Amino acid sequence: MDQITLDAPAKINLSLDITGLREDGYHELEMIMQSISLSDIIRVKKIRSGIDIHCSDKRIPENKDNLAYKAAQVVLDKYKIDSGVEINIKKNIPLAAGLAGGSTDAAAVLKAVDSLYRLNISREKFYVMARKIGSDVSFCLYGGTAFASGRGDILKQLPDLKKIWLVLIKPSLEVSTPEIYKSYDKRKIELNIPTARLVDQLKGQANVDWSAGFANVLEKVTEEKIREIKTIKKKLASFDPEFILMSGSGPTVFAIVEDEAKAEEIVEKWPGEDDFIVKSHTTNYKFPTLDIGEDIDDS
Ligand code: C5P
Repeated sequence: MDQITLDAPAKINLSLDITGLREDGYHELEMIMQSISLSDIIRVKKIRSGIDIHCSDKRIPENKDNLAYKAAQVVLDKYKIDSGVEINIKKNIPLAAGLAGGSTDAAAVLKAVDSLYRLNISREKFYVMARKIGSDVSFCLYGGTAFASGRGDILKQLPDLKKIWLVLIKPSLEVSTPEIYKSYDKRKIELNIPTARLVDQLKGQANVDWSAGFANVLEKVTEEKIREIKTIKKKLASFDPEFILMSGSGPTVFAIVEDEAKAEEIVEKWPGEDDFIVKSHTTNYKFPTLDIGEDIDDS
């Protein structure tokens, strides 16, 4: 096998709370993460040497600043592989959107190199490499529904939800995640998100009660920088969806709807011409369950 093609699914945050600032400058998080069907497509090919990277969206760096490049470098170095890889990324996930687009491409590259070079990487070793690349990469390796704490890299797998349809809408503006976290530090928003209760609810039932307190502490911060988020939420509310929330540090907003037809209706009738809009649905966990992140030796 000389090349492999993998889907790299986006994620949304069903909730996101910040419980403290860490000594390493990162924030202590409590998040419920969910993978969705909107995916980039990653093709990785063996080449003689080096890392060549090509991306369908030319705004993305085709060099070591790309998380997919970093992923290839980390795994080739770790397993002392002399030859190299060519990576092609067909971008469907919008950039700087709060959907983990870069992190999921990186996770797909780790898995692709594992398959191409028959490395048989253990889940623990995958995990150690993933967290070196970025906080969301560990979740992106496995997807499904998970409770994430620490930097976002301590994961507890939750039972798969039944398939839920949603619509994603991103205004034409982008945000910088570090900037949003810095603004949060100045604001100190407290929402008292009942994360433990939400997690218990997701463990106990396949149908989600969206009135149970799912929220995102970064939503207000990003809304102040990008006013369009409020407009999008207002327009979405007029379609009477089950639930509306910003994902991650934004600015993408998602609306949970009762079925595919409702998602299609919103996409067809959406009035914001400059917005990115797409229907999507939740996707399930792909690997055997093993909670991870508490006791990993980083060496
Ligand atoms: O880990 P990653 O490089 O993806 O994080 C991007 C940025 O998001 C970090 O540089 C930091 O500013 C912010 N961040 C944070 N706390 C976290 C995760 C991310 O402050 N737990």
